[in-house]
Amino acid sequence: MIKIILATSNPHKLEEINKINTYSDIKFEVIKGEFNPEENGNTFEENAIIKAKAASKVMKTYCLSDDSGLCIDVLEGLPGIHSNRYAPTQSEKIEKILTELKNVPYENRSAHFTCSMVLTDANGNILNREEGRIYGYIDDSAKGINGFGYDPIFFVPEYNKTIAELPEEIKNKISHRANALKPMLEWIHNNLCLI
Ligand code: IMP
Repeated sequence: MIKIILATSNPHKLEEINKINTYSDIKFEVIKGEFNPEENGNTFEENAIIKAKAASKVMKTYCLSDDSGLCIDVLEGLPGIHSNRYAPTQSEKIEKILTELKNVPYENRSAHFTCSMVLTDANGNILNREEGRIYGYIDDSAKGINGFGYDPIFFVPEYNKTIAELPEEIKNKISHRANALKPMLEWIHNNLCLI
């Protein structure tokens, strides 16, 4: 069995990662204490590297980071790496986007979530990196109560619902986080558990 520290203080990410993980030989534990390294990278991956290395420095063991966010095509990729600080509260972040897209027709409201994950060892060396995405559209109002963050405005055409209207089991099958974590888990299982 391998224990991996999750380099995040976001309880929603932790919950989703634990639900997506079905390997009994991989256990995640959340990082202890305040964890707020300065995310000054220019890409999701650069920020994921900053977080994983910072966690390894403190915890001296395997660490996995998740840097993620919403990219809206008509806003040239915004909020992107600024997703967490686009406005003071989550409802204000959603309102800001709905206002920015007020007169934009559905076909031009395409967007995706990206999740970048980086795994580091006890010395902060990068062992593996994965990226996952989910594609959809920005709805014209917030709908649903599941998930977190921008889920209420992210419309998934295949299900005709926002992510926040989908059961968590579905989100955890199709999300950007699932699409990054599944290959990461396979890599961990094959390279760290079978030795
Ligand atoms: P991070 O902690 O810098 O990776 O910021 C991620 C931000 O992107 C979060 O605070 C959310 O606003 C948004 N985000 C990331 N993943 C999701 C998701 O699965 N659903 C909705 N919003 C998300």
